[in-house]
Amino acid sequence: MRNYRIAVIPGDGVGIEVAAEAVKVLEAAQSKVAELNLQFDNFPWGSEYYLSHGEMMPDDALEILSTYDSIYLGAIGDPSVPDHITLREMLLKIRVGFDQYINLRPIKLLEGVSTLLKDKTEKDIDLVVVRENTEGFYTGTGGRYKKGDPTFSKYAELRDTFASSDEVVVQEGVFSQIGVKRVIRYAFELARKRGKHLTCCTKSNAMNYAMVYWDEVFREIAKDYPDVTTDFAMVDALTMWFVKNPEFFDVVVADNLFGDIITDLGAAIQGGMGLAPGGNISPDGISMFEPIHGSAPKYKGKSVANPIASIWAAQMMLEQLGEIEIAKLVMDGIKTVLKEGKIKTRDMGGNSSTVEMGNAVVEAMLKLK
Ligand code: IPM
Ligand code: MN
Repeated sequence: MRNYRIAVIPGDGVGIEVAAEAVKVLEAAQSKVAELNLQFDNFPWGSEYYLSHGEMMPDDALEILSTYDSIYLGAIGDPSVPDHITLREMLLKIRVGFDQYINLRPIKLLEGVSTLLKDKTEKDIDLVVVRENTEGFYTGTGGRYKKGDPTFSKYAELRDTFASSDEVVVQEGVFSQIGVKRVIRYAFELARKRGKHLTCCTKSNAMNYAMVYWDEVFREIAKDYPDVTTDFAMVDALTMWFVKNPEFFDVVVADNLFGDIITDLGAAIQGGMGLAPGGNISPDGISMFEPIHGSAPKYKGKSVANPIASIWAAQMMLEQLGEIEIAKLVMDGIKTVLKEGKIKTRDMGGNSSTVEMGNAVVEAMLKLK
């Protein structure tokens, strides 16, 4: 028997609904494999928990999670709690706490899904962004200097029009040697397994320390991968190429912030946020999988969110656990439903519910061998 213990954190808003569909699909998938046993434990952490406990999750949350094989997350965020609290104290805490230094985001247009890019098909949109996930501009390093101090500068007379104080705000980008090397190496390994092309997403023309270093490391590691072709793309140009020539890309490696930005664009070209999954990977540790969309509070409880991103994230979890065959089955289930096109959620131009989409994937999967 292959046993896996999965910690499920449905979170907030539509996260709760889409996570339920992902678990439903996983449960159906395991019914097809006698030796596979997935055990799910639910943790009701998130914004509601915060409102009654004053914290997003208990103090020993990471300790609790550390006894699991993998973590599955719905979505986090609610208007009743400021975003920087919900996210820093939960999502980012788990990413960093388990050193999930890779954020793996496939950008793949599946058959039956329409893209905003005219003349582009599923042959053109099939790439993976490897986003650094623990440092860069996400470490919360920086500060506010002279906050609220009255201004004594020569601009004092402009106070009301320009500035009410002498405040200076600094947000630092953190790029450790190990942090940069490991993510770039991971991306090269992935490129080697895929189409053998890796793009370095950079901005070394303007960011003369962090991104010049990033490029340097990229060049150095490239020497170990002569079979992988490479190119450098400034992040601004890269956004344009994602739209004009997505077929050029295979694997893209990006720092935390640029990776965040380009993967929302990626989601848009693969059919929307409802179809974009992600994995926060700790290659030797405990990973966490989630749809990359947020909690969409206004759709909470309405069963309109598309659960495909979330089911696909669960599929990535199976892959990471090494359950390749069953992961393929889930993917085939997703592909069948999308290709048939009978069930479409609102974002896809239909009016099927979250639950109907989840059920359709289960049914399709059970029919497959
Ligand atoms: C994502 C999200 C998060 C991020 C936010 C919610 C902090 O946008 O997973 O892409 O920026 O990483
Ligand atoms: Mn994002």
